[in-house]
Amino acid sequence: MDELREDTFLQDDLLEELRQDPQELEEDGVGSGPSNVTRRTFIQGSVATGAAVSIAGGNLLQPDVLRAATEPVARTIELRVNGETHELEVEPMDTLAMVLRYGLDLTGTKLGCDRAECGACTVLIDDVPHYGCSILVHQVRGREVTTVEGLEQDGVLHPVQQAVLDEMGFQCAFCAPGFIMSMAGLVKANPNATRADAQKWLAGHICRCGDYNKILNTAERALENARATLS
Ligand code: FES
Ligand code: FES
Repeated sequence: MDELREDTFLQDDLLEELRQDPQELEEDGVGSGPSNVTRRTFIQGSVATGAAVSIAGGNLLQPDVLRAATEPVARTIELRVNGETHELEVEPMDTLAMVLRYGLDLTGTKLGCDRAECGACTVLIDDVPHYGCSILVHQVRGREVTTVEGLEQDGVLHPVQQAVLDEMGFQCAFCAPGFIMSMAGLVKANPNATRADAQKWLAGHICRCGDYNKILNTAERALENARATLS
């Protein structure tokens, strides 16, 4: 309390001096000398410096505080992918495609547009094709995710993978994993689908090489392979 009072007295004292005319101060012999720095200019400088430090400090502190308040908090989740359970630390805005590629190293899932336009990131969620770039990884907790790496079973190719080899239907094949996963979804949903059905089913995919006719041949062959496996 005494310290506080002393500070207050000191401030009053300084304010009083600041109000004084410099001429008066020099006459008082306050702060004059060879350096030409009077007590008044020293005090003014100190006050200005203090204010500057205070402002700078405020500016430095504010973003830190804001950053701490808005920084995403990573959470540990369990993810079922290709029949295995993985424990992963993810952030709230992580997409499934990002986590598959950069968290689990399953790079068969491609990222083309990253905004639900090209289909390169397609994976199966409970056997239904979805764009991995447009679904948050939190949304697939407790669901079964299948990527192109998980199609082969015990060394046996999936009917769609076999069809790709049979037809050699892709050029650069960047789009292939997405098409393949959608075809796998079609084969599962309706192995009796026609070429026209496949064309509609695959409408959400873009092949930049424009290889659509061969891709539809592949889809037809995949459906044939699936029917042969079932019979
Ligand atoms: S990367 Fe997901 S739709 Fe293009
Ligand atoms: S084969 Fe090249 S993008 Fe489809």
